[in-house]
Amino acid sequence: MRTFQQIAELRAHLRAARDDGQTIGFVPTMGALHEGHLSLIRRSCNDCDRTVVSIFVNPTQFGPNEDLDRYPRDLARDSRLCQEEGVDALFVPTVADMYPADADTWVEVPELSKPYEGAHRPGHFRGVATVCAKLFQIVQPHRAYFGQKDYQQLLVIQRMVADLCMPITIVACPTVREPDGLAMSSRNAYLDREEREAAAVLSRALFEAQRLFEAGERSADELRSAMVRVIESEPRARLDYVAIAHPQTLAALETVHDGCVALGAIRIGGTRLIDNVLLGVTLNHQARRPA
Ligand code: PAF
Repeated sequence: MRTFQQIAELRAHLRAARDDGQTIGFVPTMGALHEGHLSLIRRSCNDCDRTVVSIFVNPTQFGPNEDLDRYPRDLARDSRLCQEEGVDALFVPTVADMYPADADTWVEVPELSKPYEGAHRPGHFRGVATVCAKLFQIVQPHRAYFGQKDYQQLLVIQRMVADLCMPITIVACPTVREPDGLAMSSRNAYLDREEREAAAVLSRALFEAQRLFEAGERSADELRSAMVRVIESEPRARLDYVAIAHPQTLAALETVHDGCVALGAIRIGGTRLIDNVLLGVTLNHQARRPA
């Protein structure tokens, strides 16, 4: 595995592979790699001749009072994990190279960015879309791998790639969960022991919506109320939102149908957690809830 900091050097390395007819898979990350990231990397290594992983804690997707400064960083560990997984190139750009002082171009996907995470984190998806557009321009992958855990992010990136005619296939990969259901996330590292136990309430609420849907409930209000009840049963959890939404447009629904998405966000102490499940979808499309 080679590690690149310079955009031009990574480009030259990948140009040679592309000229050889090799396929390039790309896994963009902010580091602090966990099993969720590793599942994306494994999928890319399986599908593509070369896998590129980027590690860049992107400042433009953090709000002023968010956790940019304390976001977990451990490049030595991340680099070892990538090497073990068979990654070809690790890209670790600097903030100055990704955002030169005179940079003045932003990518926005305004409608999909509006609700849920966008409403709670103004500017977040503008930062995500912009950095992904830049990374896609630099790496020019055939495929890019994203976790379904960040469901709204996945839709924003799919929309951007389609709207800007980027010749990249976005591959959505199932959420990887801890045995108690908690979705893997780099931010789980912030939780102390009691908070960590409490954090599983979010996936329990989503699985409850899934269970009710499978039992025949089709009222979005009923599913939302059931999720709120589960979350309110955990005194450490503060609810940001729960919703039942259309899986492509994210429009809030009154009547639920197969393939709709149940989404939620909570705060436990100073940590904000998000998660989602698709309702009634039993294909390979999403990880099933733990038994
Ligand atoms: O999901 C993430 O880790 C980030 O939002 C991404 C896609 C790497 C962009 O910074």
